[in-house]
Amino acid sequence: MPQPIYILGVSAFYHDSAACLVADGEIVAAAQEERFTRIKHDHNFPVNAARYCLREAGITADDLTHVGFYDKPLLKFDRLLETYLDYAPLGFRSFLKSMPLWIREKLWMPDLIRTEMGKASGESDERKAKKAGKKFPWKLLFGDHHESHAASAFYPSPFQEAAILTIDGVGEWATSSMGVGRGNDITLLKELRFPDSLGLLYSAFTYYTGFRVNSGEYKVMGLAPYGEPKYVALIKDKLAEVRDDGSIRMNHEFFSYSQGLRMTNTAFDRIFGGRPRRAESNITQREMDLARSIQVITEEVMLKMVHHVHRETGMKRLCMAGGVSLNCVANGRILREGPFKDIWIQPAAGDAGGAVGIALAVWHRYLGNARVSAENAGTWKSRADVNSFDHPQDVGGTLPPYEDGMKGSYLGPRHTVEEIETFLRENNLPYKKYSREELPGVIAELLASEKIIGLHQGRMEFGPRALGGRSIIGDARSPAMQSVMNLKIKYRESFRPFAPSVMREHVSEWFDLDGDSPYMLLVADVLSAHRRKMTAEEEKLFGIEKLNVARSDVPAVTHVDYSARIQTVRRETNPLYWEILDAFRRRTGCPLIVNTSFNVRGEPIVCTPEDSYRCFMRTEMDYLVLENFLLDKKDQPALIEKQDWRKKFRLD
Ligand SMILES: [Fe+2]
Repeated sequence: MPQPIYILGVSAFYHDSAACLVADGEIVAAAQEERFTRIKHDHNFPVNAARYCLREAGITADDLTHVGFYDKPLLKFDRLLETYLDYAPLGFRSFLKSMPLWIREKLWMPDLIRTEMGKASGESDERKAKKAGKKFPWKLLFGDHHESHAASAFYPSPFQEAAILTIDGVGEWATSSMGVGRGNDITLLKELRFPDSLGLLYSAFTYYTGFRVNSGEYKVMGLAPYGEPKYVALIKDKLAEVRDDGSIRMNHEFFSYSQGLRMTNTAFDRIFGGRPRRAESNITQREMDLARSIQVITEEVMLKMVHHVHRETGMKRLCMAGGVSLNCVANGRILREGPFKDIWIQPAAGDAGGAVGIALAVWHRYLGNARVSAENAGTWKSRADVNSFDHPQDVGGTLPPYEDGMKGSYLGPRHTVEEIETFLRENNLPYKKYSREELPGVIAELLASEKIIGLHQGRMEFGPRALGGRSIIGDARSPAMQSVMNLKIKYRESFRPFAPSVMREHVSEWFDLDGDSPYMLLVADVLSAHRRKMTAEEEKLFGIEKLNVARSDVPAVTHVDYSARIQTVRRETNPLYWEILDAFRRRTGCPLIVNTSFNVRGEPIVCTPEDSYRCFMRTEMDYLVLENFLLDKKDQPALIEKQDWRKKFRLD
């Protein structure tokens, strides 16, 4: 058999660097650099992630035919220069700050990438690497930032043809684009350009409410249901004109991201009555109202964009990517209220996903290969892995098939039972080993007695969400679970909601959703049958005071507005995780559990058994599952660390 065509996609130098390896059009591995370096949102060239991708396929950099970079550095430089000239002499400080790096590195990207690839293939000496870089047989290609997002949205989707919408802060110039994908072809039709940007508008409020830009946007979304949309009219009147086609025109008198290092300015402070909230200071009703207001506007703009792309393309299905597509509250509304029959969102919707996009774009568009699924459309397919007759009768019957190119996003490193056993033995760590058959029942039993478990099994997830590979899990029925998990496990803000993993077969019995949400990117309401009526006293509570009121049969995953950010789990995609859920359902009647990422605040999600053990010992988790091994916290020797780990992670 001829050697497959191996393409490495790379995204780097902004935030969330990542690498992705595609072999003959199939995604074989993808990972973010932060998981290896343990620096959250690491933006450096993903040497470790690239090295892992090559190792996963058992190849070296010499076996690659193409390396694709997810955006065009020269165009970005052009934007920086032009924006500076527009605003000169304002912003001279930020210009000076970014220029040396551009001049030193980014403009010399091809050389730099070759040098870094030399390191990824094991060349530790930089000189040697450079030399090696010159003889690499692969071709280096650059994609357009939004084309990379669009490719990451469409090519791995289950759709043969679909409309495409990408929304982020900014790429080279585009801040949002729309187009259409058919077979192996993508055509982008329109774009919205910098400095008008829905992503940057949201980030401005992330900054103003005291959270970190490019990281805290999730918190703003989580805070929104506690607030009132008091500032919607003011925002529309002063900051951003929202048009019917979803385009927005921003009033740059109030923002300083074009010319400075801050997102908002004193004019912004004046109309919202004060300076931005200081990070880690108390969150007040004002921040909640601001969060709610910007969330309401974002949902409105996204719905308008979606209607516009529907009118322009006439497609029945929609694919989305770009950081703003991680706004799962808006996504849920697009699915329920929008004109599209179905939507699919790239799980690594932020810039990490650009690595997937560019690799697939090289395979399909540059090399002209058909999509595998397109070739197979309408043919008989093996049901070997999904045969519902093998499932217990009461699980819920046959499901409609679901298949996309992301493989459940389980695209990262896996650690074998042998590797883990060696790690445990070498460190003299007490454990119990269970057979694969026993394991789901053992874990379900612990969950049912309100134990909190770190679950490390199978391949690590690609993208910001943990999906049962590197997750902390708990009983969603427990009224204490949300605050215990926030304060004693994750060491993060108490208002933050948790999300459920639910058996796909049973999702519609609990939530207003009857479809797949494999990547936790859709929010839907808990059905009224599972809600609990609040007492007259509880009804009177305002904002964050409502936090400790149990609002449903599964309070740990029910947000104040009865919504939940849902991950549906199928047996064929993650068998062990599904079996844990099923075993829990058999014991309790509840087919869902709490799933949060396996990390503490400010830390990247764990990758290796060492990372998982360390995180387990630093927090008040009760048990740790490392594949077939169960570790009880009570049996473990004390963890001795030279440095206080809390000082190690920069709070996000
Ligand atoms: Fe982006």
